Amino acid sequence: MRDQAEKLREMIKLRKNYPGDGKEKNDVPENSPSPVIDSRVIAVTSGKGGVGKTNFTINLGITLAKAGKKVVILDADLGLANIDVILGSIPKYTLVDLMETDLPIEKVMSEGPGGIRVISGASGVEGLIDMSEENIGRLNRRFSEVSRYADFILIDTGAGISKSVLSFVLAAQEVLVISTPEPTSITDAYAVIKAVGNQERDKSIQLLINKVRDPKEANEVYQKLYRVGKQFLHMDIGLLGYLREDPQVVKAVYSQNPFAVQFPGSHAAKDLNLVAQNLIEKEVYKTKENTGFFQKVIGMFK
Ligand SMILES: Nc1ncnc2c1ncn2[C@@H]1O[C@H](COP(=O)(O)OP(=O)(O)OP(=O)(O)O)[C@@H](O)[C@H]1O
Ligand SMILES: [Mg+2]
Repeated sequence: MRDQAEKLREMIKLRKNYPGDGKEKNDVPENSPSPVIDSRVIAVTSGKGGVGKTNFTINLGITLAKAGKKVVILDADLGLANIDVILGSIPKYTLVDLMETDLPIEKVMSEGPGGIRVISGASGVEGLIDMSEENIGRLNRRFSEVSRYADFILIDTGAGISKSVLSFVLAAQEVLVISTPEPTSITDAYAVIKAVGNQERDKSIQLLINKVRDPKEANEVYQKLYRVGKQFLHMDIGLLGYLREDPQVVKAVYSQNPFAVQFPGSHAAKDLNLVAQNLIEKEVYKTKENTGFFQKVIGMFK
């Protein structure tokens, strides 16, 4: 088993598939028309629901924060926003307040474990569709302010290939697709990757395999998706890592206290440490692409 874990770690290292363009933060012109988001914006998504996106996103955020990174989590699951349920907190403000008020950005974000910040989701976000150009511009500027608080902006999206989910996924710089070893989860993950690839062939897509028995199983799932991605979509799907199925995760959900806080020695938390490290080590490509996040979201929403 150790052998397999080692092999998988090596594979993960080999798959650093970021098309870095060598541009650094300072290369972005300061007076560019759309405000630059100076953070890595990562959408976490899946084909099938219930595969662990929300738990993964929160606990990844906490783990990155433990490693000294600034993290903001945006709950973009418009139908069933439930980050607050997992954190056991009651949000005062939501994404709608970011859109519709002039509340200072620090107020709209609530503070979570380890210093992570959370912008809670809200069903009123459908109002995005009817937004005027002026308000979209304003929202973009507000969102770019968020990046002052974030090395990483993690976006927890809903499952599936609805327009609203795809809008957030395509607007993000990097996409993490979560699949479990369940055959339906794998085929649904493929459907998401295909939908993203149809719009943007060279999007950075990486897989996180959740609820695995062991690294071998994670590897098998990855191989399946990598092969079909290569053969039918001509895409190089990357592998970020895996989390083992772990009863401590379920316990943490029941006690509304994230497993990275409550059970830092659990299998899932240990696996997540590797995942976070891997994410930090991946080359970051910062380009003018990383501007006008909400403009992109809304543009695709419409
Ligand atoms: N690594 C794991 N080991 C064991 N159970 C897990 C693991 N990850 C997630 N779970 C279980 O899966 C359930 C669903 O997780 P979560 O709510 O994060 O999924 P989701 O993908 O966000 O769902 P939705 O699509 O409804 O938003 C959790 O309540 C937990 O019980
Ligand atoms: Mg969820």
